[in-house]
Amino acid sequence: MPVDLSDESQYDRARLRQWARGRARSAGVDRRDLLTLFAAGAAAAAPLSLTAAETAGAAPRTGPVTPAAPTAAAAPGIVKPLPPELFTLRGTNAETNFEALRGTGHLTPLDRFFVRNHTSTPRLDPADWRLTVWGDALPEGHGPVEFSYDALRRLPAVERTLFIECAGNGRSFYTTQQGQTVTGTAWTLGAIGVARWRGARLSDVLRKAGVTRRAVDVLPRGLDDEVVANGVNLGRVRRPLPVSKAFDDVILAYEMNGEPLPADHGGPVRVVVPEWIGISSVKWVGDIEVSARPLYTPWNTDLYRLFGPEHPPQGSAPLTRQTLKSAFELRPGATVPAHRPHLLTGRSWSGAAPVHRVEVSTDGGTHWRRARFHDAPRRGTWVRWSVPWTPRTAGPTALLARATDTTGRTQPSKAVHNTQGYLFDAVVRHPVTVV
Ligand code: MTE
Repeated sequence: MPVDLSDESQYDRARLRQWARGRARSAGVDRRDLLTLFAAGAAAAAPLSLTAAETAGAAPRTGPVTPAAPTAAAAPGIVKPLPPELFTLRGTNAETNFEALRGTGHLTPLDRFFVRNHTSTPRLDPADWRLTVWGDALPEGHGPVEFSYDALRRLPAVERTLFIECAGNGRSFYTTQQGQTVTGTAWTLGAIGVARWRGARLSDVLRKAGVTRRAVDVLPRGLDDEVVANGVNLGRVRRPLPVSKAFDDVILAYEMNGEPLPADHGGPVRVVVPEWIGISSVKWVGDIEVSARPLYTPWNTDLYRLFGPEHPPQGSAPLTRQTLKSAFELRPGATVPAHRPHLLTGRSWSGAAPVHRVEVSTDGGTHWRRARFHDAPRRGTWVRWSVPWTPRTAGPTALLARATDTTGRTQPSKAVHNTQGYLFDAVVRHPVTVV
């Protein structure tokens, strides 16, 4: 029976079978190298390093998870300023401090949008930039088709407010809250931002390039440096999209919050894949392969899948949609004065559907109150909420926020472990001290 690749779950299962049988084609990396990495899985990679304070559940931000920057200087390879009140540096990445979002409105200002770079931000001139569409799903005898920046801007523009969130957002809580070992960047909850993206539809570009019905996968590739991991050159960042998603709602964005797309966020042009894990939204896109055969790259084989005892022995299907999370706009470990009214604020989001309800507990999870929404809940973005709180008892306590989306899914008290710490969805215990 032919597989309907327009159905996401069928796509995932089909791709998983093809990968397991070696039928998917490697896009630029030797399959043996991939299998080596794949077998090593997360087990061989260095586990998340956390301080004793982090392990005990105190504010994870204080620990040397990544070398601390002495000043507001940029992290290696990031162009924009990264003042410590807005960001926590983690290797080549910068995490948004959630408390820096308090009072900022629905969109994340560009000066505090998190940055996740596998290598470093390239400086690209829009005048020289070209997008090349190529591959065996173009008509027979058809060479690559090129689009300039101006040609892309002449196509009908679309605008959407969408989050981009790293699949590993919340990863550190597998360790600090659940006592489990995971590998990767020790994000707390700030590897997410919401922006108003403006750009051309990927579907318009693919149609203009003449993509045929033979197309199965679409592979955007970044112009940043090649990624070397554990001594293996993985090539440039690229992750296949099923043609169904590519033709559905994917944007080639050249503006973010009304500004030309900043260098750190993929300027001059990036892919924005609504509701899917951040790695799908390839920055600095330079070419797109359209393939009549399934493709695999490190980013949909050994990376961005779920491995571990609670998952199939060969790993899960490649990850697609984001999960459900909530965060307070408050510094972990903050002190709050007793007997004075305080407004707790935060944000919740889901990759599956609009957020339906958020409940907040100020006593470690015994009592829950419904939060008031400050946005109409919408797909692909977060909802801001608040709850008034007048603490009565001095001492340490934990604040909890728990979201339910319109599919009926509620954040659990424990996330299902996977070795690379993806898709953490459990309610996070946010430590504060009432004084
Ligand atoms: N695209 C390229 N070319 N290189 C990268 O390192 N990182 C990915 C994705 N696209 C990445 C990329 C990851 S893992 C995430 S979470 C998002 O970009 C982060 O987007 P941002 O840095 O604009 O927040």
